Amino acid sequence: MVRGSYDQKPYRRMIMETYGASVVASPSATTRYGRSVLEEHPDTPGSLGIAISEAVEDAVGRDDTKYSLGSVLNHVMLHQTVIGLEAIEQMAMAGEKPDVLIGCVGGGSNFAGLVFPFVGQVLRGEADYRVIAVEPEATPSLSRGEYAYDYGDTARMAPIVKMYTLGHDFIPEPIHAGGLRYHGMSPLVSLLKNQGVIEAQAVHQVPTFDAGVQFARAEGILPAPESCHAIRVAIDQALEAKDALEDYEYPREKVEISLAALPKVGG
Ligand SMILES: Cc1ncc(COP(=O)(O)O)c(C=O)c1O
Repeated sequence: MVRGSYDQKPYRRMIMETYGASVVASPSATTRYGRSVLEEHPDTPGSLGIAISEAVEDAVGRDDTKYSLGSVLNHVMLHQTVIGLEAIEQMAMAGEKPDVLIGCVGGGSNFAGLVFPFVGQVLRGEADYRVIAVEPEATPSLSRGEYAYDYGDTARMAPIVKMYTLGHDFIPEPIHAGGLRYHGMSPLVSLLKNQGVIEAQAVHQVPTFDAGVQFARAEGILPAPESCHAIRVAIDQALEAKDALEDYEYPREKVEISLAALPKVGG
């Protein structure tokens, strides 16, 4: 677990420990790469890139362990698309069509999972949606990164992929949404951004958590810090749509037409 999150969110570690896991803060003294980072930067809050390098090193050193990447790689994006396929069915059941699709992006998987089936409709010319990926201003890989080949991890053990990246040795500030502090972005999500099929927006964490609290109080669902990023932009979009409502003044001629049909009473 990245040191920044390990220190900020002890309850996450406790939940994992409750189910039998032992949780190590990264960079750790348990791997060669972790020790090398600690030697140079003993107080570093760590990064997802360093944690991935340590996890890969640990897995390749044991016969009984496999490493499974949770995001970024294209097959993970496709694996998650069950979310969007279900969302399409749910929208049909509600008799609605979305105008804007919004998801938060760390490595890209929850966003891709939701939007890729809808993007398929756009690419086949069956529909037209605005699609917005939301990331923190503190880690703006998709909105301000470089579209280039880069490593998926800091120790350069993972293969290079073409993606929007802030550089594989990027150390993020320990903002609260730990899951959005990854330096790069899934190649498929990056390609869609590069081709203008999707947009990226970066938001600050304070208005983001205001949106999360507003949502929790209105809906009774406490969103994760990462999801609050999507909620911020969803609220902004809803408010913008509200502003687009036009005032309407009932015309005098219509009043007269209606009045002409009043019942004649008393003579
Ligand atoms: C709740 C939550 N949402 C989103 C993310 C971002 O990851 P991805 O963009 O790969 O879905 C994370 C990552 O840890 C997360 O914990």
